[in-house]
Amino acid sequence: MRKRRKGSLAVFPGSFDPMTNGHLDIVDRGLAVFDRVRLAILLNPEKQPLFSVEERLAIIREAYRGNPRVEVDTFSGLLVDYARQVGASVIIRGIRAISDFEYEFQMALMNRRLDPRIETVFMMPAESYSYVSSRLVKEVFQLGGRVSDLVPPVVERRLSEKYGTPLRQGGAARVRARRRKG
Ligand code: PNS
Repeated sequence: MRKRRKGSLAVFPGSFDPMTNGHLDIVDRGLAVFDRVRLAILLNPEKQPLFSVEERLAIIREAYRGNPRVEVDTFSGLLVDYARQVGASVIIRGIRAISDFEYEFQMALMNRRLDPRIETVFMMPAESYSYVSSRLVKEVFQLGGRVSDLVPPVVERRLSEKYGTPLRQGGAARVRARRRKG
């Protein structure tokens, strides 16, 4: 078994609107290396999220209920300032494909310039999640597609509540239900 860094805390920042199985996969990988992983939701007044910050916090808490090594919090301002405040020396980011790399690389180097003591660690999710994003999950669900393999059950339930469509019905039925709602 891999040895975890004792007492280590890694911050995994993001929008998590909503959390996907790709995020869960990265958290698992983070837990294999660090003692604790803290998901940090950015409070971004410029974005119009589907799920409020409170909803996103509740989703993540439910997904990790009973796992004391996973924490969730919100932050605003500079990520490196937040990481320092909570005693984390590592930022985790997931890289799904080369297309993610340029933006992530820029952010990592900027963060390093802002605080060289905080290291960014890139982790790759399982290939089966390489195409999964929160944006596509929302779009597919809204258009009646199945997302049950792409998100944890709590997210599927919350999506159903958000769009007012019952769970466990096929995509076409959900589209019809949505059309009826107008
Ligand atoms: O899930 P996302 O939307 O790709 O996450 C982006 C996030 C939250 C990691 C990024 O926007 C961020 O760190 N924002 C905080 C502001 C900051 O520190 N900016 C300078 C770093 S380049």
